[in-house]
Amino acid sequence: MTPGPLAPRDAAALWPLCLAIAERHRQGWPPAGPELPLAWSPAGGYALPPGWNADACTLFELLKPLLDRHEVDAGWTVGQLGQSLDGCIATHSGDSCFVNGPEGLVHVHRLRALCDAVIVGAGTAALDNPQLTTRRVTGPNATRVVLDPSLRVPATARVFHDDQAPTLLVCNEDRRAEAEARFGAARVVAVPRHTQAFCLALPDVVKALHARGLRRLFVEGGGVTVSEFVRQGCLDRLHLIVAPVVIGDGQRGLSVRPATAMRDALRPPARTFTLGQDVLWDMDLRAEAVPNPRL
Ligand SMILES: NC(=O)c1ccc[n+]([C@@H]2O[C@H](COP(=O)([O-])OP(=O)(O)OC[C@H]3O[C@@H](n4cnc5c(N)ncnc54)[C@H](OP(=O)(O)O)[C@@H]3O)[C@@H](O)[C@H]2O)c1
Repeated sequence: MTPGPLAPRDAAALWPLCLAIAERHRQGWPPAGPELPLAWSPAGGYALPPGWNADACTLFELLKPLLDRHEVDAGWTVGQLGQSLDGCIATHSGDSCFVNGPEGLVHVHRLRALCDAVIVGAGTAALDNPQLTTRRVTGPNATRVVLDPSLRVPATARVFHDDQAPTLLVCNEDRRAEAEARFGAARVVAVPRHTQAFCLALPDVVKALHARGLRRLFVEGGGVTVSEFVRQGCLDRLHLIVAPVVIGDGQRGLSVRPATAMRDALRPPARTFTLGQDVLWDMDLRAEAVPNPRL
């Protein structure tokens, strides 16, 4: 009997290839290898050959900018926020379970699996007591990083006890001794105090994580933390996942330097992807701003 045409391969079949590319990044291997049935060129990065279905092609296009960043030393940082139509990431009391639908949550777990470290602010760590592990997709756990300059996250928080992945706590140099006494020296990353007294200098935080071999960084939230990464110019890309829900008076999502005139507003090149009922906006924060179309 003559075999029929092969069915197009789907997103589930593509995902292990994405993990294999991330592993090549981690190991510092060249981007192409015999186990990867994807073409790669210095100018165009990875390309999917024919034979993949529409879902696989969409997933590939969404992740391609991250997969193509293969430079061994440079590293990159991607942020995400899952938000309502009215720009909130949680209710006023801090409930964020769940702003996004299951497809959006799968995307967050994919980013955890592709990155070396997943970063959250003290607000999220204290309020949500999250695990920050990769559970909705196959893939490795990232190192968990909590930005906690005031040492307000309790030492009993799950990330410091569950032994599912390494966890680091980032604070200013002047709190190092206290942090080491509480969490152990191996877990503490101390950086010099920023000129703004309350603020961690994120370029120093990124440098310190790179020095520990953590070069692909995922800033998962919350709003204050992701906004500070944008303000300090430390994000390469931002994924805003907008859900068709209106929260009202909730926790603010992105909050950056206010523009007085529309011509001054941050307008990075952006692409959109449908994730179930949600729409993901992928913004390239390193590219030249898009001119205001009305000017
Ligand atoms: N929808 C989503 O995608 C999503 C994702 C994550 C979290 N959440 C929700 O977001 C809420 C928490 O978000 P949030 O915006 O209030 O807090 P957050 O961003 O999680 O944490 C903010 C705190 O982290 C510390 N921090 C972060 N970056 C810093 C920097 N550069 N310099 C100094 N300190 C820094 C500060 O702690 P100190 O104040 O102690 O100085 C800051 O107040 C929770 O309700 C959580 O459920 C939603």
